[in-house]
Amino acid sequence: MKDSNFLKEMNAKSVWHPMAHPADSHANPPTIVTGASGVRIKDVDGHEVVDGVGGLWNVNLGFSCQPIKDAIAAQLDALPYYSIFRGTTNDKVIQLSEELRKFFEPDGLTRAFYTSGGSDSVETALRLARQYHKIRGEGARTKFISLKKGYHGTHMGGASVNGNANFRTQYEPLLPGCFHIPAPYTYRNPFNETDPEQLAQLCLQALEDEIAFQGAGTVAAFIMEPILGAGGVIPPHESFMPGVREICSKHGILLIADEVITAFGRTGSWTGSRHWGVQPDLMCTAKAITNGYFPFGAVMIAEHVAETFEKDETGKAAIGHGYTYSGHPVGAAAALACLEETLKQNVPENASARGAQLHEGLLGLQNKYDMIGDVRGGHGLMCAMELVSDPASKASIDKKTIGQVQEVAYQNGAMVRVSGPNIILSPPLVLTEDDVNVILAALDAGFEAAS
Ligand SMILES: Cc1ncc(COP(=O)(O)O)c(C=O)c1O
Repeated sequence: MKDSNFLKEMNAKSVWHPMAHPADSHANPPTIVTGASGVRIKDVDGHEVVDGVGGLWNVNLGFSCQPIKDAIAAQLDALPYYSIFRGTTNDKVIQLSEELRKFFEPDGLTRAFYTSGGSDSVETALRLARQYHKIRGEGARTKFISLKKGYHGTHMGGASVNGNANFRTQYEPLLPGCFHIPAPYTYRNPFNETDPEQLAQLCLQALEDEIAFQGAGTVAAFIMEPILGAGGVIPPHESFMPGVREICSKHGILLIADEVITAFGRTGSWTGSRHWGVQPDLMCTAKAITNGYFPFGAVMIAEHVAETFEKDETGKAAIGHGYTYSGHPVGAAAALACLEETLKQNVPENASARGAQLHEGLLGLQNKYDMIGDVRGGHGLMCAMELVSDPASKASIDKKTIGQVQEVAYQNGAMVRVSGPNIILSPPLVLTEDDVNVILAALDAGFEAAS
């Protein structure tokens, strides 16, 4: 490793960081992380903290999961790469597909299409949804509906169904035929409705209304996160996703569950769809599928969708889509080992218990600090606090204050993530009660300093 002076001096000079203004990265150079172990990361100065971000919602099993590291190393020796485009495959991807089929059986998902990450998975699902309808002779079904506040990655398709202007405006025009309905976000919504169940019903009515307006026969799919993540952790009322499922089925619209962060235990259930008792038609996964150790993803496909493709005799079902790294053998080996560990450690159980502890602790902080306008969580290890400058008017907080909370929390032992007005927590699912207390105490110090 280069010495820390070199790293600090050159930091951000030759790199453009995702989701940052290039000049801001020059003015405020990012924290240089040089090591990690368990649920802790260490920076270039040797400062060690609990990672309240879990890498980026992906390092569910922590940074020291040896079986995954061993599987990656062994696979690099055995077969570091081979394509699975038509005509060839590899042993690891076959094994993984069988394991994923078993894992996702309760979700009704029986085939896998592999990708290199979450945005790829979203793009794949959107494309397969359109193709599904074309195969069935309903080629006019090309439109997509999604939730405002939703996050679906950054490819052109994903950005088009994204529900946040920050990821859209500078890249417009986006894909035509994408429409958005209000999210079941009780803190702020156009209906001024604070009751979660009532709000869920209003959002479902908005979906029905949009479908009627567009014409059901023109809509290919509705895409949603079971619990909205990057948009600020917005758990809907339990009636919402089942309601969406019912409406989609009634109108012949496919339901795509974007589970890039919720699959594999984060919500306290094995998948977000299962958390709400819903079977989607397509499910996007990535991130924790390899514990973040290798870029990899899979779109899981429902049996009836798979059959439509597999029984086609017109040729329309030939898949003109795929990535050089689809089914990468090293990714597949990592995913196999990761799935085994995830099951062995029964991570949803700890996610649920520690998630409840974290959520309760954050509600305690809200009682103490006026700037915490809203606390969201209560479903596994995904929580957010929305900060405001005035709780009565819900006026927005300035960047400096929220930055100070983050910085002081870091100095006091926890890495937390700031996204717009939200502090988002998505720690590894294997953290302990003490680790949660470290995060809460660090945040307390951060709020104290910024108040
Ligand atoms: C729900 C959801 N979908 C898609 C993505 C995009 O994934 P990636 O950044 O791996 O492309 C993310 C990333 O956070 C996500 O949270």
